[in-house]
Amino acid sequence: MSDAPYRIEVMHGVNLDQLGRRDPALYGTLTLAELERQVGGDAGELGLQTRFFQTNHEGDFVERLHGLDGHADAILMNPGAWTHYAWAIRDALEIAALPAVEIHLSDVHRREPWRRVSVIGDLCFATIAGQGPAGYRAALTLLRERLQRGPE
Ligand code: DQA
Repeated sequence: MSDAPYRIEVMHGVNLDQLGRRDPALYGTLTLAELERQVGGDAGELGLQTRFFQTNHEGDFVERLHGLDGHADAILMNPGAWTHYAWAIRDALEIAALPAVEIHLSDVHRREPWRRVSVIGDLCFATIAGQGPAGYRAALTLLRERLQRGPE
């Protein structure tokens, strides 16, 4: 095993660039840039390297997943509303074949019924929802543990 830090691809999907303008009761008050700074800082403390990506275009999200081979060891993914119906993203995540955690700022399990559906959930080894930005640190910790354990 090399000593290089594990590389985590942190991927945000549709409308997450609008954090700071969205309902603070659901999503908090941080902008995406502030959230990414916090996640990057937490990752550094955990000895992880992060790379961030956000798009509102599903095809770009899919192509980012296609290009991860050799550039990332694991994925932390908040696809926004795509979570609930974007089968093409599910297929691309399967192709990426990396350990992944699904994350949501809000508690998708206690909102509208359609938000309880995740088309990516069973490809992710954990889902964290409803913990706000703190959930990202929990997710990074899970990813680190998983990578340290090695392939399952
Ligand atoms: C979200 C939850 C989704 O249902 C919603 O469409 C989002 C954000 C979250 O982080 O809580 O855009 O993924």
